[in-house]
Amino acid sequence: MKNILVLVSGSGTNLERIIDCTNNGEISDAKVSLVVADRECFGLQRAENHQIENHLIKRGKDFCKNLDQIIPQNTDLIVCAGFLSIITPEFCEKWQGKIINIHPSLLPKFGGKGMWGMNVHQAVLDAQEKESGATVHFVTSGIDEGEIILQGKIPVEENDTPDTLAQKVHLVEYDIFPKAIEKVLNG
Ligand code: GRF
Repeated sequence: MKNILVLVSGSGTNLERIIDCTNNGEISDAKVSLVVADRECFGLQRAENHQIENHLIKRGKDFCKNLDQIIPQNTDLIVCAGFLSIITPEFCEKWQGKIINIHPSLLPKFGGKGMWGMNVHQAVLDAQEKESGATVHFVTSGIDEGEIILQGKIPVEENDTPDTLAQKVHLVEYDIFPKAIEKVLNG
């Protein structure tokens, strides 16, 4: 049984979906064994509801150092699911090929510094893009730059707002995130 660590900063609907998929077999032979948040958030409550070990490690310059101290050595995959802290280059190096992230755009478009949350969807609308979507990628020391594992697309409609786009992209995330995790863990 493979062990997944999920990092969260927010409401954790992707976390919920990942937990469901480990239970229903869409992600096979794996479990979410630990959830870590960098701030108080509903993601921690979701872990608690599923009786999954969870910790709050305050965000800041020592986050990765403190995280490293509690990560079990048998961790197979670290999943950033709406996680807002930057992972240090040292940490990326140590867990290379074992950290993945989901980003709410079609990378390499609309990635990098400042491109998170509604900023991304606003930028997509400002650029009059015809499509948007989500990307699951490996985490490296360059923000949103690691190798792409899976992408899913949706059309941008004329009357879309950042909110409606966010909703549609979330649905794409629920579809591709478990598939990407299955792919990385089980080939
Ligand atoms: C997702 O849109 C993800 O792409 C972004 O943060 C959001 C997390 O949503 N990085 P949730 O906390 O899983 O609901």
